[in-house]
Amino acid sequence: MSKKKIFVTRRIPQPGLDMLKEFDMTMNPEDRVLTKDELIAGSKGRDGVLCLLTDPITAEIMDALPTVKIFANYAVGFNNIDVEAATKRKVAITNTPGVLTDTTADFAWTLLMAAARRLVEADKFCRAGKFDGWGPMLLLGHDIHHKTLGIVGMGRIGQAVAQRARGFEMKVLYTDEVRLAPERERELNATFTSLDQLLKESDFVSLHVPLMPSTRHLISKKQLEMMKPTAVLVNTSRGPVVDEKALVDALGNRVIFGAGLDVYEAEPALAPGLTDLDNVIIPPHIASATTDTRTKMATMAAGNLVAFFKGERPPNIVNPEVLG
Ligand code: DGY
Repeated sequence: MSKKKIFVTRRIPQPGLDMLKEFDMTMNPEDRVLTKDELIAGSKGRDGVLCLLTDPITAEIMDALPTVKIFANYAVGFNNIDVEAATKRKVAITNTPGVLTDTTADFAWTLLMAAARRLVEADKFCRAGKFDGWGPMLLLGHDIHHKTLGIVGMGRIGQAVAQRARGFEMKVLYTDEVRLAPERERELNATFTSLDQLLKESDFVSLHVPLMPSTRHLISKKQLEMMKPTAVLVNTSRGPVVDEKALVDALGNRVIFGAGLDVYEAEPALAPGLTDLDNVIIPPHIASATTDTRTKMATMAAGNLVAFFKGERPPNIVNPEVLG
């Protein structure tokens, strides 16, 4: 039997590629995002595609690639894929949940702490040769311990963020469409509340919702104005969950104290004015970027392709309806 043909849209860690050796595998030779035309050209005539969150997999792309029966996304989030269109066309979609939970939660905390204690600003200050001695008023930030952390979206990552708050003896508020079981709330010492209440009471607000029509611009001018002037906003979910222009205004006018963002509304573009602000930390979407986690994501995405072409249920199928 001829080997199934796979296209990988961008280089991923080697252990994942090794798992694809049983296929006729081709890969984008350059370490960059493909254009739509390049994505179509590379995937033409292939049976499966291992794609990234930077590849918009639209109905138009699927129609241009009728031989592709599975898109294995190298990400837990799959808002880059029109899942409904895929399901209609009986195309399988998989993702990489679970393996990046702790790494992403660690990074949300990295942003939270760095923004609260003005770490990037302080580092720049020293590098600029401005440190001329210890000062009582120098670079004052905000305490983290014993403060209130508000978690918006209490899924796997939100819960992992809450767990880490215990060490800081924080009060944890959360909001979600679904309330946790009472036992889990007790374990996490987390109190369910409305978004508005959470925004009003929290010293730190960390976003962990998927991007859906209902979460687009969940945090906009009105919500930012509900937050404390001393509060820090952290976003490691998806950029469009925050109205980035409203955030730039709020940070510039000191409506809130600071923000730590890993994701952007029109990624990789940044909202005008964002880079001029000293009270925002802006890494380039690296919350899951550790060697261990990116390797696990690679083997998980590859494992989904392997299972699918063996006629098995891919472990991380997003639209199981297509499996029949
Ligand atoms: C994801 O997986 O959705 C993250 O944004 C990148 O790892």
